[in-house]
Amino acid sequence: PRILILGPPGAGKGTQSSNIAEEYDVEHVTTGDALRSNKGMDISDMDTEYDTPGEYMDAGDLVPDEVVNAIVDEALSQADGFVLDGYPRNLEQAEELEGMTDLDVVLSLDVDRDVLVDRLTGRRVDPETGENYHVEFNMPDDEDVRDRLVQREDDNEESVRNRLDVFEENTAPVIDHYEDHDGFVAIDGEQTPDDVWADIQAAIDERV
Ligand code: AP5
Ligand code: ZN
Repeated sequence: PRILILGPPGAGKGTQSSNIAEEYDVEHVTTGDALRSNKGMDISDMDTEYDTPGEYMDAGDLVPDEVVNAIVDEALSQADGFVLDGYPRNLEQAEELEGMTDLDVVLSLDVDRDVLVDRLTGRRVDPETGENYHVEFNMPDDEDVRDRLVQREDDNEESVRNRLDVFEENTAPVIDHYEDHDGFVAIDGEQTPDDVWADIQAAIDERV
């Protein structure tokens, strides 16, 4: 299946996309991870404010569309089925995506803003597997994994608040736009990770 997962920063898109990729044997296409692997890429020949994606990301601002559209176009052209996470983030990107592929399921994770701040500032990442954890809600049992966890550079309180503002201004209209799309389903993202996952599986199984 071709699945899009939408939601604000910290809604659980990455966490649930990992489950989807494993269960349905599809590619996890994530612009956030792709950009994090290319934070130092030289984009100075484009007409952009900064010279690298990392400068936008650490501040919590959107990386220019031109850079992100190219990443997604390339990744989707190589994937049979996919779960797309982190894109589109504004209406221009949504229009771009419509020219690239059709979608079978559009999942939208709903979570309130105050919950998002706690999730993001408490998130820790395993640098070896890329798996997301949380100091309060979800720590790994393995002590070696616990000891190597790191915090993402944009998970400080200032960047988090800016990311949430950028979401409200640019990405919330994208979600409104998809509400009329075939296969759209809103998921209560404030439940436990397991309950969110159960709702997602039911939604996908009903539609593919
Ligand atoms: P990106 O990496 O996409 O970050 P984001 O959208 O801010 O989303 P997150 O990854 O922070 O949250 P998530 O929804 O994946 O939540 P997670 O599962 O980790 O983008 C980063 C930056 O890249 C952007 O700011 C921008 O600069 C750039 N960028 C990316 N795409 C772009 C685009 N298309 N255009 C332009 N620029 C782009 O969960 C969060 C935490 O909560 C974890 O600790 C997790 O363990 C915990 N958790 C998850 N689910 C639950 C639950 N149900 N209950 C309790 N805790 C939970
Ligand atoms: Zn993510």
